[in-house]
Amino acid sequence: MFLKNIFSFLIFISSVILLITCRNEKKYVTDEKNSKIVSVVDPHSYSNPNNIKVNHIDLDLEILWKTHILKGTATLTLDKKENADTLILDTRQLIISAVKNNEGRNLKFWLGNSHPIFGTPLKIILEKTTNKVVISYQTHPEAAALQWVTPAQTHDKQEEFLYSQSQAILARSWVPCQDAPAVKFTYKAKIKTKPSYLALMSATNPQEVNESGIYEFNMDQPISSYLLALSSGKIVFKSLGQNCGMYAEPGMLEKAVWEFADMQKMIDEAGKLYGTYMWKRYDVLVLPPSFPFGGMENPRLTFATPTVITGDRSQVSLIAHELAHSWSGNLVTNATWNDFWLNEGFTNYFEQRIMEQIYGKPYDEMRQVLAWNDLENTMAVMKSEGLSADTKLKLDLKGRDPDEGLSDVAYDKGRFFLCHLEKIVGKKNWDEFLNKYFKTYAFSYNTTEGFLEYLNQELLDKNKTWKKAANVQQWVFGEGLPKDAMKPVSIELNKVDALLANYFNGKAKPESFDTNGFTTHHWQYLIRQFGKKATLQQVQNFDKTFKFSNRSNAEILCDWFTISVKNGYTQNRPQIESFLTSIGRRKFLTPIYEALAKTPEGKNWAKKVFEKAKPGYHSVSAHSVEEILK
Ligand code: BES
Ligand code: ZN
Repeated sequence: MFLKNIFSFLIFISSVILLITCRNEKKYVTDEKNSKIVSVVDPHSYSNPNNIKVNHIDLDLEILWKTHILKGTATLTLDKKENADTLILDTRQLIISAVKNNEGRNLKFWLGNSHPIFGTPLKIILEKTTNKVVISYQTHPEAAALQWVTPAQTHDKQEEFLYSQSQAILARSWVPCQDAPAVKFTYKAKIKTKPSYLALMSATNPQEVNESGIYEFNMDQPISSYLLALSSGKIVFKSLGQNCGMYAEPGMLEKAVWEFADMQKMIDEAGKLYGTYMWKRYDVLVLPPSFPFGGMENPRLTFATPTVITGDRSQVSLIAHELAHSWSGNLVTNATWNDFWLNEGFTNYFEQRIMEQIYGKPYDEMRQVLAWNDLENTMAVMKSEGLSADTKLKLDLKGRDPDEGLSDVAYDKGRFFLCHLEKIVGKKNWDEFLNKYFKTYAFSYNTTEGFLEYLNQELLDKNKTWKKAANVQQWVFGEGLPKDAMKPVSIELNKVDALLANYFNGKAKPESFDTNGFTTHHWQYLIRQFGKKATLQQVQNFDKTFKFSNRSNAEILCDWFTISVKNGYTQNRPQIESFLTSIGRRKFLTPIYEALAKTPEGKNWAKKVFEKAKPGYHSVSAHSVEEILK
């Protein structure tokens, strides 16, 4: 009897242990086969991947250059629960002409109500055996993701250019899909363009022009819809290393190759930190100046703004950043845009580690101080605008454009949080943890809560002191910057403070500043700190001495033009106009337009400039500027 009891007790205990391990196991199982049902609810998608999930997309599209339309078919391969019969897809401005099943029979479909940001749900009634739908469609000439660049707006000014920007929820404007980051699928594409043009995607890519103008692509690793990307134009390629290279317009290629000569080194360093690069090739495509972002981490092919080709290699961190997304973002993806910091905060942290590794700590400390100051400003502005809730890492963007979550908070509060954790547990433990994290969730997604659970289980629960010091609740769910955040210090930038202190005390003239060895970051810091205190006269004086208004580096121009406007300096308006009409990178446009919009004169002038500039902006930038000048 006693033995029997002991025996049952042992069986009971082992089943409990088994159950617990299975539970944990299941939670961390990756989505490698890419066929698991997705269990998160995404507030920015109409789709229903919990019932029916798109596993693979075959695109067959022609680029109609004359009418600015992509036309063809998208064939979606589905995985569905037994009784699921209605597939819901995201679309925006798409014109759907037919939906058929595997055998070519028409399926019943209809479009729901349209929303200006979320688009229009496409509902398709499936038959019991349907596991593929073929959608015949074309895009709208004003499709939000696509920019049709005129020859005059390109670098070489000879040929047209097309590119897409799908993040956050613009993929639906060129591909009918489940436009939710947690839904991952593989894809193939056949794209027809002009015979002398190259076409490129976030997939296997050609390196040479094909006479037929028809290109085939394959992405056999699952990706989210926001990473779907397409570009076409007069583009040439040059290899930069073992598995990396550069695509650009012919007149831009050599400059770009020089600027990013360290690419292979970055890939190698990143791999040493957090595990082998998983995406086979890593190439970069330099786009025309209207590209609204610095860079976009399209898998295997980062899209980049030409404003980082500065001739002094001062913006190479952009490559470190987009490359780092190959782990944080593309491999382990934010479950919804409310968890955006899991993409950008992790990536900024990872970028910092790569930069430290290659260029040393003093260099990166300058970047950290600049970022810290920006973050403090951003948070102060958000607070003053009643947007304090958006200073939390975990966002609540329900009902809003996810673009509103795109701020320094995700990037830099996120990064500083990870720096804080690194400090608490020590670099060695932290790196081991991150390595395992990326492996565990590779080709899958995570929520903020899921990450925290994993963090506790793998790390913080092992040590009470760590757990307390981590102060996770405050960092993730609290507003602003917690008091235990470590403010970065840069000896290099302290030198700039000293120069400015002497200047404002009347002890030194700008002509006498020793600026030997100044990097773009020194200049940026100098301009920003100077701008906080300067009088109009002093702004004039600095422009005369340092010729800031006539520099070619866009970072410096943006900072200088912003403080010029804020301080009422108007002599450089022609240069500001030329800047605002020649580039479309939103990060550079919005601070200047915002400063202009603060006075009636400035706002009027800005409106006139915007009118001229708008045809050259991508919809993402145009929309933001419109909001500012409204
Ligand atoms: N993925 C982002 C760009 C993005 C974010 C586009 C959200 C649309 C919605 C990209 O990786 C990025 O962060 N770009 C930065 C680069 C910088 C931090 C080096 C940019 O564009 O400024
Ligand atoms: Zn990023």
